[in-house]
Amino acid sequence: HGTSKINAQGHLEIGGCDTTDLAKQYGTPLYIVDEALVRQRAREYVESFRASGLKFQVAYASKAFSVMAMCAIAEQEDLSLDVVSDGELYTALKAGFPVQRIHFHGNNKTPDEINMALDANIGCFVVDNFVELQLLNALAGDKGKKANVLLRVTPGVEAHTHDYISTGQQDSKFGFDLANGSAYRAIQETDALTNLELLGVHSHIGSQIFEVEGFQMAAAKVAEFAVQIRSELDVTFRVINLGGGFGIRYTAEDKPLPVAQYIKAITDAIKTNFSEANYPLPEIWVEPGRSMVGDAGTTLYTIGTSKDIPGVRKYIAVDGGMTDNPRPALYESKYEAVIANRANAPIEETVTVAGKCCESGDKLIIDCELPKAEIGDLLAVFCTGAYNYAMASNYNRIRRPAVVFVKDGQSDVAVKRESLDDIVGNDVIPARMKQAS
Ligand code: LLP
Repeated sequence: HGTSKINAQGHLEIGGCDTTDLAKQYGTPLYIVDEALVRQRAREYVESFRASGLKFQVAYASKAFSVMAMCAIAEQEDLSLDVVSDGELYTALKAGFPVQRIHFHGNNKTPDEINMALDANIGCFVVDNFVELQLLNALAGDKGKKANVLLRVTPGVEAHTHDYISTGQQDSKFGFDLANGSAYRAIQETDALTNLELLGVHSHIGSQIFEVEGFQMAAAKVAEFAVQIRSELDVTFRVINLGGGFGIRYTAEDKPLPVAQYIKAITDAIKTNFSEANYPLPEIWVEPGRSMVGDAGTTLYTIGTSKDIPGVRKYIAVDGGMTDNPRPALYESKYEAVIANRANAPIEETVTVAGKCCESGDKLIIDCELPKAEIGDLLAVFCTGAYNYAMASNYNRIRRPAVVFVKDGQSDVAVKRESLDDIVGNDVIPARMKQAS
């Protein structure tokens, strides 16, 4: 997929770069990002919305992979940016991302974070709860500013990847419930707060979703709410944000639709529901994270050891693991891999790919079909662009890998590999512990 292919030497090549060369140049483990594929995904979203004729913003959910180089690409591709912490906001600001296109999410934004975002003049706060509503209004007032807000509502549509529960109230830490009247009260409250400008509402139904039905249901619920609010409170929403969650293909089990089909389903649902009610068509915003970067990422490892337990299982161990990709351990997520330096060798054995962390659960792929792996081989694990670097840790004091972006035969470091000095960089031995005993 993307620009990945097997070259004449039988090596995996991404973005015109031979992965065996990348391993030599940058070391392993290494996150490789196919820049052309990221840009292609961004364009698929933007072009699908253009085709709808609606006003829109495609906000890249930077939680999936927040680094300055990604912010630069998002800016160039006319995306907006969803941030959820001061760290993600700082990354965007340092990258020079246009502040008006930054949206700030989260269910517990601290006063410091809100002040930082107000000082930066970001485009929109997605307000999650009543405490935040009052806090944001007060802090904006202190600065003599008016903050644009979307209210996050819980639409009572929950996506379980393959089925949807449409109930009244959902047990969620996020948002104002539509079903129990709290969303209604939140609109009334916002309308009365003088330092807030209500743009509309936001809903997000889940992640790694394949079907369009959940998005259509959410669009219908939000439209119904908008119509009620307009007739009873005389408040009109200018923006409807339907969140992210568009699925990607990690393994053959996953069958996502092309981006264009999700966007068509969403924009059609909005058009139908709002036009039927004679409601001025709102702007539509979405927040894809995983589907923007997930399949553009590949992690390259070196196989260091193996252990054969006859009749039970063969392990091969790589020089990374749950520290650079915690998703298999956390969610039992599935991945596919190839031996990058013999990418067209025939499949010969089924092995379990283990990481190097000191715990048994550190397995990246259980029952991975590979050619006979040899020590020193390079293993490429696909679809690691989203929620991998973003969720990486220093468990066992393992250094985070470097990130390189590849395109047209060129490779460039976007994040340097951590050094051992980075590992101890924030450590301090309190003076009293240094005194001779
Ligand atoms: N908008 C909101 C409000 C969200 O909470 C999320 C994801 C997104 C957008 C982007 O969703 P996406 O398009 O990436 O599915 N760590 C988990 C995923 C957590 C998703 C959290 N929210 C994983 O590795 O699967």
